[in-house]
Amino acid sequence: MDNPFIIKSYESKELFCDREEELELMLRNVDNHSDMTLISQRRMGKTGLILRLFEELHSSRPDIHTIYLDIFSSQNIDDFIKLFAEATMHSFQPKTSIGDRLMTFIKSLRPQISFDPITGEPQVQIAYQTPHEKEYTLRGLFDFLDNQGVSIVIAIDEFQQIREYPEQNMEALLRTYIQQMHNLHFIFCGSRKHLMADIFANAKKPFYSSTTFISLTKISEEAYSAFIRRLFSERQRVIEDEALQFILTWTRRHTYYTQQLCHTIYANGQTTIGLEEVKKACGQLMQQGEAVYLQYRQMLTDKQWAYLIAIAKEGSVIQITSSKFLKRHKLGNASVSRRLADALCEKGLLNGESTLEGTVYTVSDVFLSRWMERL
Ligand SMILES: Nc1ncnc2c1ncn2[C@@H]1O[C@H](COP(=O)(O)OP(=O)(O)OP(=O)(O)O)[C@@H](O)[C@H]1O
Ligand SMILES: [Mg+2]
Repeated sequence: MDNPFIIKSYESKELFCDREEELELMLRNVDNHSDMTLISQRRMGKTGLILRLFEELHSSRPDIHTIYLDIFSSQNIDDFIKLFAEATMHSFQPKTSIGDRLMTFIKSLRPQISFDPITGEPQVQIAYQTPHEKEYTLRGLFDFLDNQGVSIVIAIDEFQQIREYPEQNMEALLRTYIQQMHNLHFIFCGSRKHLMADIFANAKKPFYSSTTFISLTKISEEAYSAFIRRLFSERQRVIEDEALQFILTWTRRHTYYTQQLCHTIYANGQTTIGLEEVKKACGQLMQQGEAVYLQYRQMLTDKQWAYLIAIAKEGSVIQITSSKFLKRHKLGNASVSRRLADALCEKGLLNGESTLEGTVYTVSDVFLSRWMERL
């Protein structure tokens, strides 16, 4: 049987753990036409949850259409339009009435349409002249969708990427269009939290206060253990309590890492899984990561590397300027510590989570963290 612990994207409800409350909330927002902003640290399960929501919408609200757009690879408004047009064509296949109208509309933009030789998906290339024409085209796409007389939920993943565009007015432009749509509802999703917060929670920015925030945290211990136990037992495997507990602790219940460890354990093939089998898989994962970790070592200054190790050895640190932490790891003074933390957060190697008590820092990659704490 195929490995049930998915480590890529989304497969099915059966292989997706929990998120019942978040799903409920998102469905309610869809029903109430509230736009949403979904944020979490990386690899917690945002994209998976959007695809889970879309599956739920297809079965319980078949009149609602969905478009999933990942703009991570886009560098400018041209790329955005291209990805948006392709995602739209993916959702409205030819030989449906909307699909046919869409094709006519896209053709009116004088694009070059080709088909990916491997996936068969359409690829759109639109030749432009002026910035004004680009805005006109983008507006046209929104208007086209809005005028189809159906409700459409559009998820824009890695939304913070629009901050990288040279076009300074992209946020204002999108906000204006979106505000004027009646049948289009939006989910904005992203993992660069300070950027997402600046887009949606900064009173000086166009999107301020325009959406409902959903912050994705860890799956509960009860839900995750029941899920793992079920997937093993449905495939005639037994996992011991102690082993299960170790998995959840060692991976900190950070979804991607928990999935990856379970995936490896399953792939190893034992039918009874005890602590020893789990620890063996942990060792394999750290070993697999080592080549990349050593590259980080090259990429960082000695001080940054030492700082990352210090955080890893502590597990998580809330007082990065406390003399206890600084002395124990010989890290210099408070301002040095702050500077190092900022630089490592900027590189994505360190994660800072705001809490009522202050910012909690952890090494973003759980396996790297576990590898470092042994140095
Ligand atoms: N509820 C879940 N149950 C089981 N596996 C999940 C769940 N949520 C996510 N995953 C798996 O965890 C991994 C990370 O999830 P996903 O890619 O959705 O995270 P993300 O928050 O979008 O990450 P990024 O910020 O890097 O885009 C994926 O392999 C996905 O299949
Ligand atoms: Mg994602």
